[in-house]
Amino acid sequence: MREAPSLISLCLEAVKNELFRGDDILSVVYDLPSYLFDILVLQLPPLPLQKLQMAMPFTDRDDHEYDDDGGGNGRKRGRFCNFDKAWKNLFELHWPYLVDDIQTVDWHQKYWEAHLQKCLDEAAEIALLPSFSGCLGEIKISETILKDIGYEGCIKFSTCDYSKLSYHCQEYGQYARYGLVLNFECCHAVEFRSTVLFPVPLDNLLRDSKFESLDLWWIRSEEHIGGLCKLLSQNSESLTSLKFIHCKLSSASVEKICSSLLTNIVPTHRIQNFSVTSTSFLETNLVSLPRGLVSLLSSGRSLCSLNFSCDYLCRNFAKMVFDTLCDASSGLSILDLSENNITGWLSDFNQTSSNNHPTSLGLGKSLRSLRVLNIRGNNLDKDDAVGLRYALVHMPNLEVLDISDNPIEDDGIRSLLPYFVEAFEACSPFAKLYVESCDLNASGVIELLNTLSSFKRPLESLSIADNFLGSKVAAVLGKFLSTSIQVLNISGIGLSSSGFEDLQQSITKEVKLIGINISRNRGGIATANFLSTLLPRAPELVFVNAEYNFMPVESSRIMCSALKAAKGNLELLDLTGNNLDSQTILGLAEIQRNGKLALIFSSLPAADAPYDDDP
Ligand SMILES: *[C@@H]1O[C@H](CO)[C@@H](O)[C@H](O)[C@H]1NC(C)=O
Ligand SMILES: *[C@@H]1O[C@H](CO)[C@@H](O)[C@H](O)[C@H]1NC(C)=O
Ligand SMILES: *[C@@H]1O[C@H](CO)[C@@H](O)[C@H](O)[C@H]1NC(C)=O
Ligand SMILES: *[C@@H]1O[C@H](CO)[C@@H](O)[C@H](O)[C@H]1NC(C)=O
Ligand SMILES: *[C@@H]1O[C@H](CO)[C@@H](O)[C@H](O)[C@H]1NC(C)=O
Ligand SMILES: *[C@@H]1O[C@H](CO)[C@@H](O)[C@H](O)[C@H]1NC(C)=O
Ligand SMILES: *[C@@H]1O[C@H](CO)[C@@H](O)[C@H](O)[C@H]1NC(C)=O
Repeated sequence: MREAPSLISLCLEAVKNELFRGDDILSVVYDLPSYLFDILVLQLPPLPLQKLQMAMPFTDRDDHEYDDDGGGNGRKRGRFCNFDKAWKNLFELHWPYLVDDIQTVDWHQKYWEAHLQKCLDEAAEIALLPSFSGCLGEIKISETILKDIGYEGCIKFSTCDYSKLSYHCQEYGQYARYGLVLNFECCHAVEFRSTVLFPVPLDNLLRDSKFESLDLWWIRSEEHIGGLCKLLSQNSESLTSLKFIHCKLSSASVEKICSSLLTNIVPTHRIQNFSVTSTSFLETNLVSLPRGLVSLLSSGRSLCSLNFSCDYLCRNFAKMVFDTLCDASSGLSILDLSENNITGWLSDFNQTSSNNHPTSLGLGKSLRSLRVLNIRGNNLDKDDAVGLRYALVHMPNLEVLDISDNPIEDDGIRSLLPYFVEAFEACSPFAKLYVESCDLNASGVIELLNTLSSFKRPLESLSIADNFLGSKVAAVLGKFLSTSIQVLNISGIGLSSSGFEDLQQSITKEVKLIGINISRNRGGIATANFLSTLLPRAPELVFVNAEYNFMPVESSRIMCSALKAAKGNLELLDLTGNNLDSQTILGLAEIQRNGKLALIFSSLPAADAPYDDDP
């Protein structure tokens, strides 16, 4: 039998319905005793909750004092905490998979921001349909979304304002801060229809927004720029992160966009993260950067990360960006120019050009704050490495350098060796080097490793993966392992079993490794032997990737003993693509004793491995 509802729950239900209908009941509700009020708050759908919170008869919502007796008008009762809890519950109800990733102190704001994003996504989908013609703001929001926020009873009046996107933007635009994605793909699809005003009215739609972060996709026509610039200048005081993804931009547009970030109220921009990725600039061979961009790059001390990844950039553009940053002694911390084609961009940097201060790190024009430089995948060759060696002099605080996927070859890495010597002698914070897939040979890498090993505290992390080095490097690698290196990536370097044997022999004492990637090295059973020596001697080791090493089934027992002898920190051991007997290994329940360790196998025999490990 159904349990009879309590009187209280019936009353609360009635109050809830009344709150939908009008404002009459509000003043009475605020007079409810605290405990009832609190129950009510936790039961309300978004809409009446919003109404209740907004109309609270006192301003000091943060006050946590309670006054629990029933009477008195407009008393100070702090209920902000409960409102926040209510908003968090509602958020969790609709976006359970997101709730753990969000760090916020304001669930009220998060809730409406997520709601608005949902409306925008839905509208974008509708606008994409070929049959769509009209204004984006007029698009009807679906009943599901309306129900979610509590418009249940009123849906029959679907001509009301609140069924339109524009209503939601106006009403809740003020809560949009982060993460709202404006996907202009839809207007790309419909831009040929003259009736469509989008995105021109966008700035009207989001009039009260205070964006701190904007991601803009698919801006591909000059027509989009006007509305966008208005939106940008409206938000220039709050905006700190601006991203363009999959856009096509002319210099004139770039000029307008950058200028709109500077207004009378905001004479220097506040952008911290500026990112233009997978985007093409229409004029390919500019002789100078748009003035607005120069001023964005050189004015304001706020710019901290700059990303021009995957933009089909040529050397000139990259050179001008780099010179501008250097000339302005920018405070930039992260520069990502990866996946372009900028061969020759540093040709001005050579022995002659840095003769005035040949080996002194960081004199003259410089990028003193730069910590991360990513120039992977840029078709850079050994001459570029020479330029880089002298350019690095201007970055005394560099910590991370990624030049992977560039054919710099042995000569290239040799050119960089003097830089490493200078850096370590000057105790610079340089700590991570990625030279994956750089057409390096054993001799170049042996010189690199010898140089690095000669310092007391060399690197934290090194990747020389995907260079065909062969077993010759193993002995030197072994020596390098006993420096304080924490993460080493030697995936796909052609070690083979003899390489693993040499590596095994070179491990005689404890190593500081946290992670090692030895995948795709055709090590066979020698891989298992190596691991059985390494695991007990690497107390801090957390992850090991030993995929695709042709380990035969006889390796299973060796792996068992290796795992039993392993220290307790190991969390991940990937053995995919080897011919191991997972039953034997897993059968030893002891291995799982601390519950932290994940072992990954796959049934694929190595021969079917879905990769090409040939040099
Ligand atoms: C800006 O970039 C920094 C460094 O990459 C990052 O930690 C931060 O979360 C970014 N901020 C935004 C709003 O994207
Ligand atoms: C730059 O953008 C690319 C593409 O979106 C991304 O993969 C990369 O992580 C970004 N770099 C930084 C430093 O945030
Ligand atoms: C890269 O740039 C060079 C000139 O700097 C040009 O010759 C080459 O065609 C470009 N490669 C690609 C893939 O665009
Ligand atoms: C070195 O750089 C200067 C400009 O910084 C340039 O004039 C000179 O030609 C360069 N020398 C070589 C050998 O590339
Ligand atoms: C690297 O070694 C291979 C064979 O070992 C050789 O054919 C190639 O020329 C070498 N490359 C360089 C740049 O030394
Ligand atoms: C190791 O290098 C491979 C190949 O370049 C790459 O896919 C992987 O992400 C790298 N792993 C680490 C931990 O650096
Ligand atoms: C090791 O490298 C392989 C490819 O070379 C990559 O797929 C894997 O993610 C890497 N493992 C780790 C833990 O980085």
